[in-house]
Amino acid sequence: MTKRVAIFISGGGSNMEALVDSMTGDHPARPVLVLSNVPGAGGLARAEARGVPTAVVDHRAFGGDRPAFEAALDAELAAARADIICLAGFMRILTPGFVARHAGRILNIHPSLLPKYPGLETHARAIASGDAVAGCTVHEVTADLDSGPVLGQARVPVRPGDTSRTLAARVLETEHQLYPAVLHRFASGDRTPVFLP
Ligand code: GRF
Repeated sequence: MTKRVAIFISGGGSNMEALVDSMTGDHPARPVLVLSNVPGAGGLARAEARGVPTAVVDHRAFGGDRPAFEAALDAELAAARADIICLAGFMRILTPGFVARHAGRILNIHPSLLPKYPGLETHARAIASGDAVAGCTVHEVTADLDSGPVLGQARVPVRPGDTSRTLAARVLETEHQLYPAVLHRFASGDRTPVFLP
């Protein structure tokens, strides 16, 4: 059975685009919803241009009431009958309650080689540490931030003179390869990690 995929974004949505564009032909999944917590996020127009239904659930309308915000997310997911949730630059931390309700069905992409550099500023931290290799990770989302089982990783060399901006741009290109590769495998029921290149 074809899996139905919801993609959560907060910004430009380049990973969302890569995921949507990958789900064609004999791919075991199809995009059914792109949801943003930020009204006017650039990715919403990009999803609409691809014919994918969109929704906005503005967290600010809930005044810090995370369970109420997440109940609104749940309503959108139920309406879309989503089987898999891909977080793609979604800048809200989900509560353990939400994660438990969707256990084993939420993926996230993070711009570091986890367990290195969970959280923010990953590229600056990799450069400051003198790392020769950076990269990105797709992992299953669990209640602990950026620490669920790894479903895929891709390595990216750090070049002399790299800034966090140049490194982020190079890692992002690799994210666009890794996330679709992991989703394809995951949607077909195989959780074996994907390692690129
Ligand atoms: C990506 O670097 C992703 O790893 C991080 O946020 C960024 C989102 O970029 N979590 P985009 O919105 O997919 O272009």
